[in-house]
Amino acid sequence: MVALCVFDAYGTLFDVDAAARESGIAAEIWPRLSADWRRKQLEYTWLRSVAGAHVDFWQITQDALDWALEAQGLREAGSRAQLLALYRHLAVFPEVPAVLALLRARGVALAILSNGSRAMLEDAVHAAGLDGSFAALLSVDAVGVFKPARAVYDLVGQRFGAAPQEVLFVSSNGWDICAGAAYGFRTLWLNRAGLPMDRLHGAPEAEMRNMTDLPRYIREL
Ligand code: LAC
Repeated sequence: MVALCVFDAYGTLFDVDAAARESGIAAEIWPRLSADWRRKQLEYTWLRSVAGAHVDFWQITQDALDWALEAQGLREAGSRAQLLALYRHLAVFPEVPAVLALLRARGVALAILSNGSRAMLEDAVHAAGLDGSFAALLSVDAVGVFKPARAVYDLVGQRFGAAPQEVLFVSSNGWDICAGAAYGFRTLWLNRAGLPMDRLHGAPEAEMRNMTDLPRYIREL
């Protein structure tokens, strides 16, 4: 049995669309704004990592939002501060709290491994009422490069002394779970959006649409 379960944060535990959805921006606009925001946010992490031009994920999140607001003609609409505040308190996906509680009750250690800055992760966990659920919040802040750099996945072994094959890594991001699989983690892709599998180095061992079956699955590993 796997004794350590490591979760990606954004899109996996926390609903990145919740900020735009809850902002009051019109229903015809917010989904596009949110998709642009997320896409640019990820692109900026990859581009800055390749260029060796790291800034933290909070700066990336603001830069991506500025691009997305401008693309929608919303730069002057006054939504920026509100959207950023909402991003610090994203809704957790509905099945997550009960699943985490069940895993902890079974003695599985839980951790987050995320691009998010330490302060962002602390805010998100607190807002979701998940204080005390995780043995560690592992942020890329410690290595100054973003996923999928191997140095990020190394943080798990450095913190817990576990070999990659003793860790179940759970991410909704296809590129993250492929890279985690190539790294040697046991892997579960939470394919919340029903997307095709990424064509990358590594492929996840298992795929689910949400976490409901995770406690059963982990028992069989
Ligand atoms: C994270 C991003 C990839 O939390 O969602 O690391």
